[in-house]
Amino acid sequence: MKHQPIPRLEVSHLVRDFQGQRVVDDVSIRVMPGQVTCLLGPSGCGKSTTLRIIAGVDRQDSGTLTVDGEVVSSDDIHLPPEARSVGLMFQDFALFPHLCVADNVGFGLSGSRKEKRARAHELLDRVGLLGDAGKFPHQLSGGEQQRVALARAIAPRPRVMLMDEPFSGLDNRLRDGIRDETLEVLKDEGTAVLLVTHEPEEAMRMADNIALMRGGKIVQQGAPYNVYNSPVDKAAAAFFSDINVIESTVQGALTETPFGQFLAPGVPNGGRVEIVIRPQHLRIDFDRNGQGPLPTPQDGTPARGTVQRARFMGAESLVEFRMDFDDVILRAKVPGVFMPKPGTVLWLSMRRDRCFVFPARD
Ligand SMILES: Nc1ncnc2c1ncn2[C@@H]1O[C@H](COP(=O)(O)OP(=O)(O)O)[C@@H](O)[C@H]1O
Ligand SMILES: [Mg+2]
Repeated sequence: MKHQPIPRLEVSHLVRDFQGQRVVDDVSIRVMPGQVTCLLGPSGCGKSTTLRIIAGVDRQDSGTLTVDGEVVSSDDIHLPPEARSVGLMFQDFALFPHLCVADNVGFGLSGSRKEKRARAHELLDRVGLLGDAGKFPHQLSGGEQQRVALARAIAPRPRVMLMDEPFSGLDNRLRDGIRDETLEVLKDEGTAVLLVTHEPEEAMRMADNIALMRGGKIVQQGAPYNVYNSPVDKAAAAFFSDINVIESTVQGALTETPFGQFLAPGVPNGGRVEIVIRPQHLRIDFDRNGQGPLPTPQDGTPARGTVQRARFMGAESLVEFRMDFDDVILRAKVPGVFMPKPGTVLWLSMRRDRCFVFPARD
């Protein structure tokens, strides 16, 4: 039998109700050492509540938490936060204003003063702030303070690091650098990271695994590539980008559309489906005397539309079409140099391997 590595953090069937409302609904997540899992979902879906339960500052109504295979919380056991080897980093991290940077980092450590100093300096070196060890927090920029907070959170060598939107207080230019640096430090230390965010770009940039959360439930888990490219439903696709939706009816497990036929396995005759495609996966072709390009297996059948407007967005332009069929509006993302005038007639086709067919929900 193949040896199964033990997850650093295992969350099993976590449930939490507030005033009769199920806020965390059967959440299960595993994080391996040195791996980053992003808990991604819209505001209010239960991310922070989940994280607080794992940290031990709140308690689940049911479900089990283990760290390296040891139960830290269940129906019978409830270890306090400090006994879980779990580090925490929040957006509103607070450094102690009256302590110097090195003492802030060494604050939660055990051992002699000399040992604490040594560990603090090691981490400050790691985040590039060794030269600032003697300064006070107010003498540092926001980004530098964030790095001190990171060093402080890592200093006790937690086996698991829980991060709740830790980068959302930073301005855009700083954020990317600090994100990458943070990841590098955590990976080097072999820490398992559970990072909460509502931003798909942040999750895709940082995660080995994404757990997509909605209404208290994990609706999909997987590598960023898979979650992005094989969404479980329309809402999951829409969470990562703008989408186009074409409605259609099924006959014999097929649906006939102006863009050709699509498979709709398992949908009964007369059932409604929605065909979802992202604006960047529409192909644009010129009209030649009322004709578009020939159908291909890769791009299917083209359909004709008229440009309503085109918006320049730098590297890309977003072009809005009113399609000849049913006056449906579709948006296509194209390289920014292409800016067709309103009224231009063009042909659109859909990259077949980028289309998703979902049963319509009403
Ligand atoms: N202590 C609490 N008492 C009652 N309701 C709460 C409490 N904490 C969170 N909630 C509710 O639980 C839901 C999920 O909140 P939260 O976990 O903070 O979501 P997220 O972090 O995804 O934005 C929200 O509707 C919120 O109002
Ligand atoms: Mg939150």
